[in-house]
Amino acid sequence: MKKILFAASESVPFIKTGGLADVVGSLPKYFDKEKYDVRVMIPKYMCIKEDWRNQLTYRTHFYMDLNWRKEYVGILELEYEGIRFYFIDNEYYFSGPSPYGEIYADIEKFAFFSKAVLSALPLIDFRPDIIHCHDWQTGLIPVYLDNFRYGNEYYRGIKTVMTIHNLKFQGTWDAKRVQDITGLPPYYFAPDKLEAYQDANYLKGGIVYADRITTVSNSYAEEIKMPFYGEKLDGLMNARANSLSGIVNGIDYEAYDPAEDRYIARRYTVDTFRRDKVKNKMALQEEMNLERDHHRMMIGIVSRLTDQKGFDLIAYIMDELCQDAVQIVVLGTGEERYENMFRHFAWKYPDKVAANIFYSEPLSHKIYAGCDAFLMPSLFEPCGLSQLMSLRYGTVPIVRETGGLRDTVEPYNEYEKTGTGFSFANYNAHEMLGAIRYAEQIYYDKKRDWNKIAERAMKKDFSWGNSAKQYEKLYDQL
Ligand code: ADP
Ligand code: GLC
Repeated sequence: MKKILFAASESVPFIKTGGLADVVGSLPKYFDKEKYDVRVMIPKYMCIKEDWRNQLTYRTHFYMDLNWRKEYVGILELEYEGIRFYFIDNEYYFSGPSPYGEIYADIEKFAFFSKAVLSALPLIDFRPDIIHCHDWQTGLIPVYLDNFRYGNEYYRGIKTVMTIHNLKFQGTWDAKRVQDITGLPPYYFAPDKLEAYQDANYLKGGIVYADRITTVSNSYAEEIKMPFYGEKLDGLMNARANSLSGIVNGIDYEAYDPAEDRYIARRYTVDTFRRDKVKNKMALQEEMNLERDHHRMMIGIVSRLTDQKGFDLIAYIMDELCQDAVQIVVLGTGEERYENMFRHFAWKYPDKVAANIFYSEPLSHKIYAGCDAFLMPSLFEPCGLSQLMSLRYGTVPIVRETGGLRDTVEPYNEYEKTGTGFSFANYNAHEMLGAIRYAEQIYYDKKRDWNKIAERAMKKDFSWGNSAKQYEKLYDQL
């Protein structure tokens, strides 16, 4: 039995700000239980819903040195859907209104978490063969592990995998400060180790010290070796190319299932969607106070409202797009200028645009189920889960050909009658509008073909099965 510990800053169903939580919380369920014991460790944030916090059982606690500080580390646990979750408790670090706050505070918070993960192991009776780290928040784990190994037999032989969900976020801060926070010897603060461009860089530390590095799609694994996507670490990605691979994300096919979904007005399957899916659109039109017209093409967006997701392209052509026979339903939060942009257009075109500037799991499901198309014109996209959810619900994605979007959405070919969505190549607003209008044309003039696209989309398999196998293989190689 191989023992694997996931360490991450978020996980469904407890706490989620983006796709990272979906992956960390759902992937462990899909490993072969006979051969892999996969457990998960995350912080016990105060902002985890009380319902969940009340279900955790206290396991033990200890005090840990963090350089000159001595910090309380509580360990709580919960078994959920067959997976054991551990929660690291410290009220000073994890009491904010959301998992992340100011970067200087997060730098200390996740130094604490990373060291606490390693320090907790001997007390929970679970010595992992592999620690699987996710994103910059856990980048210091392989570094601390390297440091721990010198003095402590227990840690020798534990391997690490570092998965990059987003290279844009690296966790960088002044090297002197980080040295003071972490208590790591000066030796680690060098350009071939933790340091990048004079600052300490957590993700870089993880990439340098991990035994294997993965990212969440094949295309992104290639892209980050180039300056445009490399976020100034493309040199390092090239240097570690032999240890780097892409494993595409899946989604939880039980949580996202149009045949079983409790949040949607009318459930449907690949056999009934032609008749029943539209009921969800009508319910959504009602709820969003849009014009009640079941013929109208409805385009959905569920997203963090940031530059990464291509919202400057959308802002640029919104007025033009709103001249077309479409409705647009947005659900998202993020940068104020994009929040206000959508509020503005919802005010200007009340029959056509609905702006929901908040976070809502139920509404996200209603959008995946109710819309005809889903727009995701990302500037870069390591994998993207929203387009996978759309495919699953027969909601045709319109995407830019980058990263995981390129790997998971096959562009429609009207001559060969293939494809599961629409796409465009260049980061250009009118190229995007061209793709949307092409989709409109198929939707309105060739409804049969449109339904075939939706059918192929629903039949695609992006459940975790396949990708979990690839992670298993990777673990076996270690
Ligand atoms: P990223 O991780 O870059 O934000 P992904 O596409 O991988 O992008 O994952 C986004 C996840 O967050 C999806 O599960 C999506 O449904 C969800 N999501 C994003 N914004 C919201 C929101 N405002 N309300 C509900 N769910 C949201
Ligand atoms: C990141 C990426 C997204 C990916 C998610 C889960 O947030 O932005 O593309 O799907 O992580 O891996």
